[in-house]
Amino acid sequence: MILGLETSCDETAAAVVTGDGRILSNVVASQSELHARYGGVVPEVASRRHLELVAPVVREALGRAEVPLADVERVAVTQGPGLIGALLVGLAAAKGLAWGGGLPLVAVDHLHGHVASLYLQPNPLEPPFLCLLASGGHTLLLDVQNHVGFRVVGTTLDDAAGEAFDKGARMLGLGYPGGAEIDRLARQGDSEAYDFPVAQVPGLDFSFSGVKTALLYAVRDIPPGKLQEHCADLAASYQKAIVRALVERTHKAAETLGAETIAIVGGVAANSELRAALPGATAAPLALCTDNAAMIASAGRYLEPAADPLRLDAYAVA
Ligand code: KG4
Ligand code: ZN
Repeated sequence: MILGLETSCDETAAAVVTGDGRILSNVVASQSELHARYGGVVPEVASRRHLELVAPVVREALGRAEVPLADVERVAVTQGPGLIGALLVGLAAAKGLAWGGGLPLVAVDHLHGHVASLYLQPNPLEPPFLCLLASGGHTLLLDVQNHVGFRVVGTTLDDAAGEAFDKGARMLGLGYPGGAEIDRLARQGDSEAYDFPVAQVPGLDFSFSGVKTALLYAVRDIPPGKLQEHCADLAASYQKAIVRALVERTHKAAETLGAETIAIVGGVAANSELRAALPGATAAPLALCTDNAAMIASAGRYLEPAADPLRLDAYAVA
């Protein structure tokens, strides 16, 4: 029995996962409503909310799993990257739980956690595979050869894909977080209405600043009061450009590495157009795309516990 904790951004999450990867509970308390009025996550507000939520969320996860704390055999927690104050709340809580129960504590990298969302039941994926990790903070192509880690073969030179979705949504006057909103609105729009450029950078890297600027100019050119009627077309065209960039680079990486299996994880992997555009790929289950603690517990199954757990420190940047 592994208890996982995740507090790297604005989700306070706890989960109970078995050693063979069955999810017994997966509780996610999203703070997005709290941050919506600011149009993005306010780090200090997030830290304070994590502090209020972490104990009840852990209690809820144990309760739903019907696993008493005494039956937990290890604790896994996100160590970084993320918001430092937010991470420290989860790390301190995990240290307390592990120390109090005399349990091993495993520090998990958040990105490894996203990859490990693929290792859970009922359809665990086995390495090797090429993994596209697209979230609010990262856009990475990963060469995954085993369960304990990965090698980065491509990254974004500027914004992350999720960040591009969120900023685009803000320009269109949609709510935060914007990815899911654009996804929903795009279904009613014409993706051919606007021609947004897909940045071509060398190698296997990504760039989303150009497409973001193109959207900004398109929005600026719309007469006052008319944004509403063009909104769905803008969303559909913008989403198509981002998805095309992600798909092209992923195919190129698979070719370069000779990878036979492609997987997609992270918040943006929840995008319906991206999932449809990579029909042969293994996509993380929808509930495990955005931040959660089941993926952290999953990664924690494969890693060595910390030798000196109380000395673990969080890190903001990978
Ligand atoms: O993995 P995640 O929960 O957090 C990070 O580690 O960053 O990813 C959150 C990101 C946000 O930018 C959000 O807008 C995006 O994932 N996202 C989506 C969708 N659902 C969430 N982007 C596009 N389409 C979606 N359906
Ligand atoms: Zn994440």
